This record gives sequence, C-alpha cells and structure tokens, in this order.
Amino acid sequence: MQRALMGRDAKILERCGSTNDVARDWARADAPHLAIVVADAQEAGRGRQGRSWLADPGDALLASIIVRPTLEPSRWGLLPLLTGVAAAVAIEQRTGVHVGLKWPNDLVFDARKLGGILCEADPGEWAVLGIGINVSSSPASETEATSLAAAGALRLDRADLAASLLSAVDAVLRSPDAAMIRYEERSVTVGMRVRASTLDGGAIVGLAIGLDPDGALQIETDDGEVARVHAGDVEHLRPE
Ligand code: BTN
Repeated sequence: MQRALMGRDAKILERCGSTNDVARDWARADAPHLAIVVADAQEAGRGRQGRSWLADPGDALLASIIVRPTLEPSRWGLLPLLTGVAAAVAIEQRTGVHVGLKWPNDLVFDARKLGGILCEADPGEWAVLGIGINVSSSPASETEATSLAAAGALRLDRADLAASLLSAVDAVLRSPDAAMIRYEERSVTVGMRVRASTLDGGAIVGLAIGLDPDGALQIETDDGEVARVHAGDVEHLRPE
C-alpha cells in the first residue's frame, strides 16, 4: 500500500467499503491534517442523504481527505462548499474542463453531475471530505451523470487529480473567504428558479438569489419572502 502522496500521509487502496469510513477511523486515531485515502473501488460507497454512491472499478476518483481546520467551529458548515470549490479548481487545473457547482456541492458539467461530495465531521476536531469524481465514465445506471472523459478530458491520471485536489483543499482552507467568492462565481444555482427539498420533508419553491455567509441558500418565494435553506437538495426548474 502506498503511504504518501504529495508529501502527505496517504492510504492508496485497491478496494474498500467506503473511503470515508477508512478516513473517519484514521481521523479518530492519529491521521494528520491533509492525510488522504484513495481507492480504485468501493463496495459500499456512500452519497449524501443516505444514498449510495456508485462507480465502476477504476472509473472514478474516490478520495477522502482528513482535515483539522483552524476555521472557527461555527464556520465548519462551510466545509462542504469549500470542498466543492477545491474539487472544481483541481479538475480545471488538470483538464481545462469548467466545472459548475450546484448547491450545495454537486460538481456539474453541461447540467449533468460529474461528481459529488460527502463531508462528515466531529466539529472542532476533524472533518472527512469525501469526493467522488467520474473520470473515465459514469455508471450506466446514472442517466443524469457525466464524466470528465465525456467532457473531453480523455487522458487524465487519477493520481495527478488527487494531488491537485490536496493542494486545492489546502488553499481553500487557508483563504475560506476568498474561496466562498469563487463558490458564488461557479454557482449554477444562484439565479435559477428552484425547488428545495428540506430535511423535514417539506419543499420551498422560488428564485435562488444568493448565499448567506454560512452557506445557506437564499430563496425568494413567490410571496416575496426570503427563505433560507441550510441543508437538503435543490432541483433547478424551468423559468415560468
Ligand atoms: C453525493 O453526491 O451524494 C456525494 C457522493 C460522495 C461520494 C464520495 S466517493 C469517496 C467518498 N467515499 C464515500 O463513500 N463517499 C464519498
């Protein structure tokens, strides 16, 4: 097993259940800031909101980065958004493919999902930034997904992308305010009419008008109120 990447502690695995689970156990033990777990294949890859994350072996970058940020704990809720910015920057550096961010942190190209992020944390102690990026193809069952190869990046080495990801995560954590400006620039949600599904099973429909400093999405509803959504999924709607 390879034990270093870009001078950072690393576990490079052929397969595992979920890289986030391996990283979480390592974080609870002694993993240093910016240690990384990468796998060619996951048997139980996890997505947001209890969904599973599918990728055919060798087709995706499956990585979990352990961080011990100096961000004040009240701002740890920004970590998923900051990770989205880092992933978008790393992809663009390696491939030239321009990546948009669908709130909160789906990586999209041409309105299709290129990758996703699952962050898990013990706030104030550690966070695991789990990143899945479809590199050479997306699973056939995921009809709304795309890959970097489909976007034109045909010869991308996953280890190189992981290395760029580490540098980009380091950079966004050093300058979170600047990174949040980059987030808004890349947002494909702000300016769209959306339906947000909230965690309590409700829905808010309206125009996405911006982000709060804590990353919540501001939605102006049809009665002119501004609602704030802190977690959940959004669906982009056609303008009326
Ligand atoms: C989502 O869009 O639902 C988030 C998907 C996150 C997938 C990545 S793959 C690497 C890491 N390990 C996991 O089990 N999940 C994340």
